[in-house]
Amino acid sequence: MLKRKGTYVVAVVGATGAVGNEMVKTLEQRFFPVDKLRLFASERSEGKIMEFRDTEIPVEVMKEDSFKGIDIALFSAGAERSKTWAPVAAKSGCVVVDNSSQWRMDPEVPLVVPEVNPYDLKWHKGIIANPNCSTIQMVVVLKPVHDAVRIKRVVVTTFQAVSGTGQKAIDELLQQTTDLLNFKEIKCNVYPYQIAFNVLPHIDKFLENGYTKEEMKMVNETKKILGDNSIRLTATTVRVPVFRCHSESLNIETEKKITPDEVRALLSAALFVIDSAAPEKNLYPIPINVAGRDETYVGRIREDESMENGINMWIVADNLRKGAALNAVQIAEKLVEMA
Ligand SMILES: NC(=O)c1ccc[n+]([C@@H]2O[C@H](COP(=O)([O-])OP(=O)(O)OC[C@H]3O[C@@H](n4cnc5c(N)ncnc54)[C@H](OP(=O)(O)O)[C@@H]3O)[C@@H](O)[C@H]2O)c1
Repeated sequence: MLKRKGTYVVAVVGATGAVGNEMVKTLEQRFFPVDKLRLFASERSEGKIMEFRDTEIPVEVMKEDSFKGIDIALFSAGAERSKTWAPVAAKSGCVVVDNSSQWRMDPEVPLVVPEVNPYDLKWHKGIIANPNCSTIQMVVVLKPVHDAVRIKRVVVTTFQAVSGTGQKAIDELLQQTTDLLNFKEIKCNVYPYQIAFNVLPHIDKFLENGYTKEEMKMVNETKKILGDNSIRLTATTVRVPVFRCHSESLNIETEKKITPDEVRALLSAALFVIDSAAPEKNLYPIPINVAGRDETYVGRIREDESMENGINMWIVADNLRKGAALNAVQIAEKLVEMA
């Protein structure tokens, strides 16, 4: 458990990556009570200087005793590093908020979205898992609807930005776009096919059941976060040539009837920003407008006229903010509140 203090020694593991960079920015922007910030990455980045609150911090490489004296560590360096180092950090007395998929489905590890299941933070044993980016933005919207009218089934299709794959994928989209516009040959290193001007119905590895790991993460993590195994969910996850922000098309079947106006009222009350349904205004959330923002945006709320109790909607959130760094920092803020 985190001990109550005025300020905390915080570490970001994977600080040089797409999410790690955003974590450092988020800690600064939200005035997290940081006494000292330690930054870790691979040997490639050792000694690299990063800025935090006008101070220059050198990037370190993790060692067995690196976590001594650290209160909170935000991990974002991939599942393998989390598997090895999160228990080392936890054993040193540090609380780990892990952004990788390594611990999410471990029954001993809470999987938390602070607006949805903050109560699960109470039973952590040193490691807390941050859900998958596409799951986080979906469950913040599902939770109020589930509480009001019980969700029976969800059909979700995602349109996910390349930053969800990390810095190398951001570079690949930029490079392929530049090369194509200059009539040069393109290279595919990160994705199996060209991502510029294309759409790939494939995120993470394929499994025996024909789904991808990303799709099954959405199914399993949603049940764990909402604490309800009865919700049926099916997902198709798609990579699109967008730098930042995941979009999702959601179809929700509920036990009791709920109208689009009631959904709008429900989600507005829970502090989500809802775009107007006025058709003449062409208002709906789009990635370029949501990039860099903290809120999950919801629009296109409408009745599914093909079934008795069905609602369709469109949700957009910044995958590097609410989908990763912000959610991790919000977990740390809750831990401080609870200390
Ligand atoms: N991107 C997203 O939207 C998102 C959302 C939710 C969760 N996640 C998860 O967050 C993690 C990081 O994702 P990312 O998108 O930020 O990836 P990324 O841009 O590729 O960054 C990876 C980070 O891990 C570090 N790293 C790699 N090998 C290491 C090692 N052996 N020891 C220590 N550090 C090492 C890298 O350091 P170097 O720079 O030195 O190589 C870099 O800082 C992944 O587990 C991912 O699944 C990502």
